[in-house]
Amino acid sequence: SVTRLPDVPALRAQVREWRAAGDTVALVPTMGALHAGHLALVERGLAACRRVVVSIFVNPTQFGPAEDFSRYPRDAERDLALLAQAGADAAYLPDVAAMYAPGFATTVHVAGLTEVLCGPIRPGHFDGVATVVSKLLLQALPDLALFGEKDFQQLQVIRRMVRDLDIPVAIEGVPTVRESDGLAMSSRNRYLSDAERRQAAVMHAVLREVAAAVRGGAEAAPALAAGRERLEQAGFGPIQYLSVNDAETLAPLDRVDGPARVLAAAYLGATRLIDNVPA
Ligand code: PAJ
Repeated sequence: SVTRLPDVPALRAQVREWRAAGDTVALVPTMGALHAGHLALVERGLAACRRVVVSIFVNPTQFGPAEDFSRYPRDAERDLALLAQAGADAAYLPDVAAMYAPGFATTVHVAGLTEVLCGPIRPGHFDGVATVVSKLLLQALPDLALFGEKDFQQLQVIRRMVRDLDIPVAIEGVPTVRESDGLAMSSRNRYLSDAERRQAAVMHAVLREVAAAVRGGAEAAPALAAGRERLEQAGFGPIQYLSVNDAETLAPLDRVDGPARVLAAAYLGATRLIDNVPA
C-alpha cells in the first residue's frame, strides 16, 4: 500500500530514507480526483526512478475567485487506492494551512509564457501554479518531476521556471491520455452532462483537423476559422482561443515552420475544456 505523508518533515524523512538506500525518486504533482492521465505520469515515473511520490493538493492560489476551488472533486481514499494499484510508493497530502502559513508573502512569476493563451484569461493562475510547484519541488527535491502535455502551457511555464531558478530537478512531459473518442481525460470532465459528454470529443477532432491543415506550412487562419465554426456547431461557446503556437515559446504563429502546437480553450455549457495536439 501507499505510505501517507502528511507534512514536509514526513516527506523529507521518507525521501532521505530512500536516498540512503540508493533509490532514485520521482515526484508527480496532482490535485487529486485521479484518473488514467495521472496514472500515466506515475507509470512513467516508475519507469525512470525506483520510487514515486504523488502529491495531492488542491492549490487555492491557482483558482480565480469565480472558479471551482470549493467544488473541485476531493476523494483521498479513492485516490490512495488507485495509487496503490499503480505501484506508487507514497502520497504527500499537505494541508492548506501548512502550505500557506500566516504571513506567506512570496510569489513565483514567469513572464512571457504566461502572457498568452490561458494567461490573460485566468489572471494569477500561473503565478499560483509556479509558486506551488516550486514549493513542492523544493520540499521533495526529487530527481525527476512529471507533468502532462494536457496542460501544455503549464508544462512550458514549469520548464522555464526550473531553468531560471536552478531548481535541481529534471522535468519530463508525458503525452495526453484520452478517452476512446479522443476527449482528453480531466478531473473536470465529470462536470459534463451526458449530452455535453457526447459533444466534448469534437474539440480533439478540431485540433487534429487544424494540425493536419497547417503542418505543411499553409496559412493557419482559414483552418482556425473552420475549426471555430465546427466547435460552435457542436455547442461550444464561448471559445476562448483556438490557436497555433510555437511549441517552446508559445508565440502565436501564422504559419508553422518548426515545432508547433494547436491549442484550444472553450466552454461546453458551464464546463471549461482545454486541449492541445502537436502540429
Ligand atoms: P492536475 O490537474 O491534477 O494534473 C496533475 C498532472 O496530471 C498535470 O501535470 C497534468 O498535466 C496531468 N494530466 C492531467 N490530465 C492528463 C491527461 N489526460 N493525460 C496526461 N496527463 C494529464 O495540473 C495540476 O493538477 C496542477 O496545476 C498542479 C501542477 C498539481 C499544481 O497545483
